[in-house]
Formats: sequence, structure tokens, C-alpha cells
Amino acid sequence: MKREQAEREIEKLRSELDRHNYLYYVLARPEISDYDFDRMLQRLIDLEQQFPDLVTPDSPSMRVGGEVTREFPVVRHSQPMLSLSNTYSFGEVDDFYRRVCRLLPEDYREQPEFVAELKFDGVAVSLVYRDGVFVQGATRGDGYQGDDITANLRTVSSLPLRLGGGARGERVSDDMWMGTEIEVRGEVFMKKGDFLQLNEGRPEEDRFANPRNATAGTLKLQDSKEVARRPMTFVAYYLREPSTRRLPHDLCLKRLEEMGFFTGGHYRVCRNLEEVEEFIVSWEVDRASLPYETDGIVLKLNDRALWEELGATSKSPRWAIAYKYPAEQAATVLRDVVFQVGRLGTVTPVALLDPVRLAGSTVSRSTLHNFDEIERLGVRVNDRVMIEKSGEIIPKVVRVLTDERGDDTRKIEVPEVCPSCGTPLERSEGEVNLYCPNETGCPAQVKARLLHFASRNAMDIKTLGQSLVDQLVERGIVRHPGDLYSLTSDDLVQLDRIGEKSASNLLGAIGESKKKPYERVLYALGIRHVGLATARELATAYPSLEEMSNASIGELSAVADIGPVIAESVYAYLHDERALEVIDALRKAGISFEAENGMPLVNANFRDMNVVFTGTLEKYTRDEAASLVAERGGKEVKSVSRTTDMVVAGSAAGSKLQKAEKLGVRIVSEKEFESLL
Ligand code: IVH
Repeated sequence: MKREQAEREIEKLRSELDRHNYLYYVLARPEISDYDFDRMLQRLIDLEQQFPDLVTPDSPSMRVGGEVTREFPVVRHSQPMLSLSNTYSFGEVDDFYRRVCRLLPEDYREQPEFVAELKFDGVAVSLVYRDGVFVQGATRGDGYQGDDITANLRTVSSLPLRLGGGARGERVSDDMWMGTEIEVRGEVFMKKGDFLQLNEGRPEEDRFANPRNATAGTLKLQDSKEVARRPMTFVAYYLREPSTRRLPHDLCLKRLEEMGFFTGGHYRVCRNLEEVEEFIVSWEVDRASLPYETDGIVLKLNDRALWEELGATSKSPRWAIAYKYPAEQAATVLRDVVFQVGRLGTVTPVALLDPVRLAGSTVSRSTLHNFDEIERLGVRVNDRVMIEKSGEIIPKVVRVLTDERGDDTRKIEVPEVCPSCGTPLERSEGEVNLYCPNETGCPAQVKARLLHFASRNAMDIKTLGQSLVDQLVERGIVRHPGDLYSLTSDDLVQLDRIGEKSASNLLGAIGESKKKPYERVLYALGIRHVGLATARELATAYPSLEEMSNASIGELSAVADIGPVIAESVYAYLHDERALEVIDALRKAGISFEAENGMPLVNANFRDMNVVFTGTLEKYTRDEAASLVAERGGKEVKSVSRTTDMVVAGSAAGSKLQKAEKLGVRIVSEKEFESLL
């Protein structure tokens, strides 16, 4: 394709993509399918790859990420990013209203306008546009300076990479914004549904408590490709543009919408306190049906010229206030506490509650996190407690109604032994959690690991649920995930509630799971701190488990978004004999520990075999011999152990040969090796 032709098509694609992006994210009225959108985007990416000099920072292709930042540069804000004074009482909103009125010039006092808007529960950011192009985005930081997270913010779909200008999200001629510098402030957040989905792919021990934490964590990631995989939204509530200095705030919000920003659209100009109250009251209920979290409303004086006159205290402006909704709470009785043992041995106390309705669902259990939390709450069995759903996600016990305490309460005893296997529990230095050290023998841990292995984001073995896992483990049929692959129909039909049909379904699902790609397998292993995203990073950095096993802790922690804690955990796992036994069994079952698009195999004669070479081979160097094995699905290992499948002995073979003899490992000569190839 000719350059000029490509240039024209690229322009057209960008304009169309921007428009559809706006229709989708800002107006929520898409005109084309996701599939068609992705196709257009792919076409743009392809063209830009052919003509790299045509790539611009405001191209929609930038949203897929790619830049890796080691450390975020610090940027100073043009004006401090203040926060708002908060209140939970309508009386204080009333005070605020009257105070502002008193401070206003006389001719304004009668009927000042306020804008009531939603308070979005996310992370505040400031965006800078030069000549209409998004050039810099920063976190609030300490209010005066924040981190430059431009690359991460480019991945946020509702954030325009280039300003529109009046018509709905279309690109405008380049000169419209020439010579301008505009700042937009707002909040980045994760929608409730997006948050739940993200959390599902994370290991239990690393789940985010709420969408705001998830957003804050995501914006700090170094790898913008990973950021791009986590859908976030930007909502704008502040505009600094020289030509609109005197524009009232509500018209600024309109203007932001015309420029292509999402504002949520739910704001209202209020001319008296009753209207403010109405807004507060109606959103207290309706906010539950929004796809994102709001924790209150913000009331702002509409006349921006007066903002400067009123000024700010050191922390917050005098022309605005936030009214926060109390979290929904309910009172119930804590009937008992049970202790759950997780896949990593952590013992978590869980409160069993008298069922109670709260924020749209019935709650009968709630985690108490750990024993420090129990102590902090001072809670006893049979206490009346208040529970709360923060962000409608997970209910928690917030306080004890001590005044209502009866004579029948009793202390929650800290268990000394594991409720599942009876092993004395331990607590590591500086840790709040108790854990059961009996990794391989504790049925609760074994079961939890199997359930994780079979879960949707891991090997997705659908019919392997709690009751089957319970039976398989309790009867000693399965000890670790590797055992699943040698199950037979006879093993299964002897279990309760399982007939021939469901047995064959389960075996089918287990067989099917062998095709799962390497990154899923890595996640399924349940290595501490390794969620789906981390597994993906690792699989990209080390296309085979073997390469990963050879990496040092330092090398592992050099991978983007893998810190020393994860690196250490991965290293420890890959050097743990019991873990290697599981991996070996999985490998033998035909599960891949290599990223796809590896080299095609010559044949499968050495499939999943660990081969040791010892002594001198006549025809091949060690490297050549190792490659021959690799091309046939096996791999060379350096030392002989129980997991070695074959030792190839050349002339003058020494101690490895002896060890192989002792362990009963198959030994072949160079000649036999050759014929096996
Ligand atoms: S205006 C000078 N409007 O709440 C104050 N803030 O608790 C500028 N927030 O730092 C902020 N929704 O991160 C404003 N509609 C809204 C908001 C909002 C959420 C956040 C913002 C601010 C914090 C204050």
C-alpha cells in the first residue's frame, strides 16, 4: 500500500474509532458490535506497524498499552489538588450553604446556584492536553506533586486521547485546539462488574477489598499492557481552559461532555436547600443501580468566578462540600465462629450470623479476617453485632452492640490445632494469621488446592465441585492435582451420588483440561501470590517452566510487576520437591509447561521425559543431544533423581551412572539412544 493511501485510511480509522469509543463509553449507545470495533482497531494497528512513522500519541492504538515504566517521574500540579471537607450530616450541609451565602457579595446572596453531583469513589487524577492532545496524566500524590502515569491512563477507554469539539466525539480539525493547554481533573474508577471479574482471577490471598483499591493498585503497575487488561473508566468533573474561565460549573460539565469526556451526566443545578436535599435523598437509594460506586454527593457553588474569591483552607476549598452516605448496616446475632483452612494453610475465622437482609441480599456469613480483628472488635459468641456492606461487595462485622450483651455470650477461643487435621497451628513472626504447617497431609489444604486447580480461571474442570473433592480426598484416591489425571471410571462410580454418566462427564472434563495453555497451568498450580495476570507475565518472560526454574530470585524479580515477594515465592515453589512431584505428574499426563508457538516437535518419542547425559558421547556434543531430546518433547536435566526417566551413558560415565543404578532409573547406551530418536 502506498504511504498516502495508508495515511488516509489511518486518519479515517482513528476518527471512526474515536467516535465509536465515545458512543460506547460516554453515551452508552454503541452503534457497532465489539467484534467490529476490534476489527477496525486491529486494522489500524496493522497499518501503523507497516508505517511506524505515522504513529501518534493520540492514536486509539495507544490504548492497548505496551510501555513499561520502571519508576514514575514526579510532576508538579499547576494548582494544588485539594480534597473536600466531608460530612455525614445534612445539618452540616445546611451550615455550609448558609456560610457560603454569607461570604458572597451582596447582590448574589439572595439565590445563589449550587451544583449537586455524585461523588465517585475512585482515584483522583489530573490530565493535561496540549494542542488538543493528551500529553500528561498524574495522580494526586501529596496534592502538590504526583506520579506521571500517562502511559497507564492512555489505556482508559473513556479518556479522550484527543479532544473532540462540539459534535459528538468526532475528531475535529487540528487547528481547533492549536496553541491551547487545558487541564481536566476527575476520577478513575472500576465498574462493579469489571471489579468482580478482575478479583476472580486473583489468588485469594491477594484479592482487592473494593474497586477503589483495585483501581489504585492498577494505576501503579509498571506494565501498561497489564493495565490495559483491567477495564477502568475516567469521569471528569473539573476543567481549566483559558476561554472558559468565567463559565459556570454546570456549563463546564456540558463543555467537558462536548470535548468527549464522560461526566456521569447526573448533576443538577439547585437553587435552594430543598433541592439539594431532594438530590441527596433520591440518590441515596438510586445509586445502588449505578454500575459504579459512589460514596456521597458533592455540592459546589456554580459561579466559578466566586471560587477564587472564596478561596480555600490549606486542605479544601470553601466553595464545595462532600456529603457522604452512611454505609448500609444491619444488626444481627453472631451465633458461632468456624475456622476455614485455605489452600496455603491460612486459618480464617468466619462468623456464622442469624440471616439478615442487607443492601439487597441475605447475609448469613461474614469473614472476621484474623484474630487481631476479633480482639479489636471485642466480639463474643452470641453478641449482637452491626454488619456493613462496604461497596455492596463483602459484608463485614463493624462493631458489637455491647449495651445489648446478654449472659449467654462466650469468648471466641483461638484454636490451637488445625480444625481439619489436628496439627498444632503456627504463627510466623510479625504475621497476624495462624496457619497449619501440614501442607501435604492436611485434608482442608489438599481440598482447597484441588478446588483452585479446577476453578474457572485455572483448569476449568466444571463438574469437580466441593462434594466430589471431599470424597476423593477423604477416601485417599486423590492427593494432589496430578492424581486427577489417573482417575478411572471405577474410582468414581464407588463415590456417593455419582453414576456412570457423571463419571464419564467428569473424566471428559479432566481430559479436556489437558489442553489448557501454559499460563493457566501456572496459575492453577496455586503458587503463593501468583494470580492469572502474574502467571501471564511469567509465561511471557519464561516461555517454558524449565527456563523459569533456572532463573534466580534476582532474575525473576526483574520481570515487570514481579516484585521480590512474588519472585521469592515462585523460586521457593520451583525448588520444592513436593511441588516438583506434582509438576512431574501433570507433565506425564500430557499437560503443557511451555508457551505455545514453541517449536514444532520432530516426534513425541521423548514426550515429557527427563533425560540425563553422563560420560562422553561419540557422535554428539551435550548441547546437540539435549536439542534432539527437546525436539522430541523431552528435556535434559543435569542430575539424577527419582523424577529422571532415562540416563544416557557415554564412555567413562561416573557417579551419575551409579546413582541411576541405585535408584533403578532406566540406563541406555549412545547406540540405543540413537535408535530411540
Ligand atoms: S471536586 C477541590 N467532584 O473526592 C476539590 N471531587 O474527598 C475538587 N471526588 O479529591 C474535587 N467525586 O478525588 C469533586 N464530583 C466530584 C467528585 C470528587 C469524587 C473525589 C476527589 C476528591 C475527593 C475529596
